[in-house]
Amino acid sequence: MSDATIDTAIIGGTIATEEGLFPASVGIDDGRIVAVGDAETLPAARESIDARGKIVMPGVVDVHVHFREPGMTHKEDWGTGSAAAALGGVTTVFEMPNTDPPVDTIEHFEIKKAFAEASSHVDFGIYGLLGEHNLDQLPALAEAGVCGYKLFLGNTTGDLPCPSDGAVLEGFEILAELGLRCTIHAENSPILFWRQNKMIAAGRRDPYAHLAARTDVVAVEALNRSAIFAEWTGARIHIAHESCAASLPFIRFFKARGVDMTVETLPQYLYLNAESMLEPGGEVIRMNPPIRQKANQAPLWEGLSDGSIDMISTDHAPHARSEKYGDDIWKIACGFPGVQTSLPLMLDAVSKGRLSMPDCVRLMCGAAARAFGLYGVKGVIRPGADADIVMVDPDATLVLRSEDLASRGKVLPYEGWEVNGKPVLTMLRGKTVAKEGVMVGQAGFGRMVSPSMPAPLPRNTATTIKASLQHRQQPW
Ligand code: NCD
Ligand code: ZN
Repeated sequence: MSDATIDTAIIGGTIATEEGLFPASVGIDDGRIVAVGDAETLPAARESIDARGKIVMPGVVDVHVHFREPGMTHKEDWGTGSAAAALGGVTTVFEMPNTDPPVDTIEHFEIKKAFAEASSHVDFGIYGLLGEHNLDQLPALAEAGVCGYKLFLGNTTGDLPCPSDGAVLEGFEILAELGLRCTIHAENSPILFWRQNKMIAAGRRDPYAHLAARTDVVAVEALNRSAIFAEWTGARIHIAHESCAASLPFIRFFKARGVDMTVETLPQYLYLNAESMLEPGGEVIRMNPPIRQKANQAPLWEGLSDGSIDMISTDHAPHARSEKYGDDIWKIACGFPGVQTSLPLMLDAVSKGRLSMPDCVRLMCGAAARAFGLYGVKGVIRPGADADIVMVDPDATLVLRSEDLASRGKVLPYEGWEVNGKPVLTMLRGKTVAKEGVMVGQAGFGRMVSPSMPAPLPRNTATTIKASLQHRQQPW
């Protein structure tokens, strides 16, 4: 074998980038992309994959999944969650810290990392928690390699206490110096509890009462507060699961002011609506923030096209089936699986002309990698990048079925939906990990990724808590 021989060539497909579609083959060696071009110009390869008739796109980067391990493995674990990701064309996941224990210390970070390294099929980032009790841990968590931080402003699965505004602002002062991004569950906790208690006192247990407790302003207020703190401190933020048309003018406002804020929405907000909660079994779509009235959908799609919303994530939030059904909405677990179905659902939007394929690549791959300091390694097909690749059959129909989910949470609000466009092969760092709906990779092949963020840009540094404690006289 000559030195010029490479490991793999993906021949004859159509490459999808954020700029457009073009016919090309991809050369892969040692886990990386080494060439993109005409098949004849590629070095000889030991293995050749026929991509004729297929779209070849970067592996999806999903910055919002809950894999539940440690502590809640009856809902999911790293093996099942990451297999679902691989089958869905997702090659990098960022996993949320609301596990048991939560990722609030180095020790807890290391526990989770060991589970992930032992059984993940895809590459992963691990979020650290920004909580009231662990502000002193934030720098050490950065050093250990967290992909970012998660701030729960609103109560959700795991019942982690929401930090006070004072703690959040100090947390942002610290994060601004570290430069890592903070993903925010932006709901106002006091308002939602106040309203929820009123609903409960009035005897309401119907699914709609959940939406009524977490009505639009609950999200709008928390988004604005987060953005004000981010602007003041220079902390980089990411608004998780944006569900609400009423948030969009505020997102545009703060982005125009130069706040380093990225925003995700989810397929469930684009495809499902609160009106369907009134049907039998409708309680299954209970999640936080809630799936809102149908009128929110068109503005969210618009936000995706005009760049107000940067990316699609999944908030893959599996629970046991028994936790998801019942006639008391307050007892229904919040969230449902999504990491295996997000790319098929968005490809369906492409096939229906609702989204362009380049926009799909931007929203599912490039934008997340850019926001979290992974772009160039992840999120793009070009020489030098990791060979994280999804081959898609744009003409194949896929029927979404809960029984096909690799997740332990076999709950699927899209049951029986026929979508156009199907991931047929997922490759992680040059190795095929899923093929034709079957896992072929090895548990534990996934590796931790850590971001390489631009230089921190802290603001108002003379008046941070740290600066104020150091200077007994006015420092300004
Ligand atoms: C998530 C979960 O179950 O961990 N649930 C949800 O309804 N979205 C938590 C979260 O992301 O808020
Ligand atoms: Zn959340």
